[in-house]
Amino acid sequence: MSRAKKFALVTGCGKGGIGEALVKEYIRRGVYAIATVLPNENSEHLNEAGITWFPLDVTVESSIRSLKEKILPLTNGYLDILVNCAGICYTMPAVDTDINPVRRMFEVNLFGPMQMVHYLHDMLIRASGAIVNIGSIGGVVPYVYGASYNASKAALHHWSNSLRLEMSPFSTFKKVISGEVGTNILKNDSHRKLPKGRSNCTTIWRTLLRAKRIILLASRRRVSKSCAENG
Ligand SMILES: NC(=O)c1ccc[n+]([C@@H]2O[C@H](COP(=O)([O-])OP(=O)(O)OC[C@H]3O[C@@H](n4cnc5c(N)ncnc54)[C@H](OP(=O)(O)O)[C@@H]3O)[C@@H](O)[C@H]2O)c1
Repeated sequence: MSRAKKFALVTGCGKGGIGEALVKEYIRRGVYAIATVLPNENSEHLNEAGITWFPLDVTVESSIRSLKEKILPLTNGYLDILVNCAGICYTMPAVDTDINPVRRMFEVNLFGPMQMVHYLHDMLIRASGAIVNIGSIGGVVPYVYGASYNASKAALHHWSNSLRLEMSPFSTFKKVISGEVGTNILKNDSHRKLPKGRSNCTTIWRTLLRAKRIILLASRRRVSKSCAENG
């Protein structure tokens, strides 16, 4: 029996992010979009757009269970689309990695989607729904100072590949490999400091740059000397 309304749940819909854009697009296409924001996160942008939202921290199991209790009566137990969009970043030379914020990042970027799928898969299967995990180009092609973030997304990609196989009889699965989008994802990174003392990686790069400058100067001198000799 076809249902009149389709439901999409998108995590991490803070202002100016990919999640906010997605819920707005779902609504434009006639899908009933349900957004989530971190408890205590600003939700005015969702209220203004008339979007249903609930607080959710994807790293807290009780928060996911409580979200499920709230959406079950709203969707009649069906979920057509789950978009695991919530994510955070950690920018740092690999050799200077501070493992604590990286653990937190893996909690959000990897274990969060795992928990969401664990708790909501029955609603998705009932609707023959789709799971969408927002990955990153960094999980495929490395970029400098993104080692930990890239690792979290590569792990998400790989977990998603097995999930796709296992869920294929029941639901569809999409892994989105996002390129760079102008959002607030780097807001915590802009204040991040290199470790006290000198960062090992920075030292190596400074030395390399200094060496490059010396080689450039030497070759310029050689060129001007040979120009002078040749008149
Ligand atoms: N922007 C890019 O260039 C880019 C590129 C590739 C992939 N991506 C991925 O796209 C997704 C969306 O990122 P975005 O660029 O739109 O960044 P964003 O604007 O910072 O959105 C991420 C959202 O996730 C929320 N969040 C953080 N921790 C959470 C948690 N524990 N539980 C629930 N929500 C949490 C954030 O809340 P707070 O604002 O309160 O922290 C924010 O609302 C992420 O998975 C990101 O890795 C982004």
